[in-house]
Amino acid sequence: MKIALIGYGVVGQGLIEILRDKHAEWQAQYGLNVQVVGVATRSRGTLIHPHGLDLHALTAPASVENLAHYPHSAGLVRDVGVLELLRASGAEVIVEVSPSQLETAQPALDYVRHALRNRQHVVLANKGPVAVALPELIALARANGVQLRYEATVMAGTPCFQLLEHGLRGLQIEAVRGILNGTTNYILTQMEGGMSYADALAQAQALGYAETDPTADVDGWDAAGKLRILGAVIFGKSLTFENLSVQGISQLTTQDIQDAQAHQERWKLVAQLTRQGGSVMPTRLPISHPLAGVSGATNAITFTTDLLGDVTLVGAGAGKHVTGYGLLNDLLAIASVL
Ligand SMILES: NC(=O)c1ccc[n+]([C@@H]2O[C@H](COP(=O)([O-])OP(=O)(O)OC[C@H]3O[C@@H](n4cnc5c(N)ncnc54)[C@H](OP(=O)(O)O)[C@@H]3O)[C@@H](O)[C@H]2O)c1
Repeated sequence: MKIALIGYGVVGQGLIEILRDKHAEWQAQYGLNVQVVGVATRSRGTLIHPHGLDLHALTAPASVENLAHYPHSAGLVRDVGVLELLRASGAEVIVEVSPSQLETAQPALDYVRHALRNRQHVVLANKGPVAVALPELIALARANGVQLRYEATVMAGTPCFQLLEHGLRGLQIEAVRGILNGTTNYILTQMEGGMSYADALAQAQALGYAETDPTADVDGWDAAGKLRILGAVIFGKSLTFENLSVQGISQLTTQDIQDAQAHQERWKLVAQLTRQGGSVMPTRLPISHPLAGVSGATNAITFTTDLLGDVTLVGAGAGKHVTGYGLLNDLLAIASVL
């Protein structure tokens, strides 16, 4: 399976490091045989090698800093545009891991459309195209006989869409409620431990949890973007941000956090959605509430169903290898039908 990456930041590097370290194991166990034939960045170069890039050289610090430092070999092509990379790399699967733009989803949305029209499978961690245009992209993928997968867009590597697709098959989902943003949950947890908001945010950025522009996290738009994706997948609804009531955590002070603690309560950024609409709101929960116990970059989602009642999934919601694994899960699903 030949793959090409659009984006080589925290998550793209996470995927390549996982492949570098675990490919042999997965090849033996699942018959997975991945070649990375292209990598594109915005400002740090682009590489194509139709016979596969060397993953050790690709993850060397010098290459990570700038792909111009990746060693030359016969067949290597450098510095082409993304559309040329899609065309010339021979990739069967395009992995979209550039920053999430939640209003227009561009330029990623056009890259995804191109890839699907080229009959290339697409795997995304980028929420933009999925939040903005999921029905259109599903139709385009079907028309071209390829798959569109986006496990890593909600709860990173924790398999929320696999659960919906397989484990909860046949059930009516009536409501969704959860903690869907790892950065804000990490910040709130650190603030409860006495850290300042600014220091906690800086730590979340250093750990690779935060969006390229962290205002999307702290103002609630990242979680709202995930509700748009869930709304499209579960209720078949094309939600816009105007359909959702959104508030982030940037107004919360250390005093607010301490007041809640004094009353055996915790602030959490809670996202919820029904057929009627949804919201992302900082919410004070009693310490005994199941969501109050979800700490750090962990995420949780509860699906309220007709026959099973509430089903809750809790797991890692952000980070380099965590999100890289979400992409890999999708690659395994595609490999099983190639
Ligand atoms: N970090 C997480 O825990 C997490 C979890 C779930 C989902 N995600 C999603 O995964 C995606 C990647 O996140 P990240 O943390 O890896 O971001 P990041 O570290 O900022 O990396 C983004 C990469 O995309 C490249 N890029 C930007 N614009 C591009 C363009 N027009 N064409 C080609 N490449 C472009 C950047 O190039 P330059 O380096 O040259 O700028 C960089 O290599 C985002 O959509 C994010 O929402 C992240």
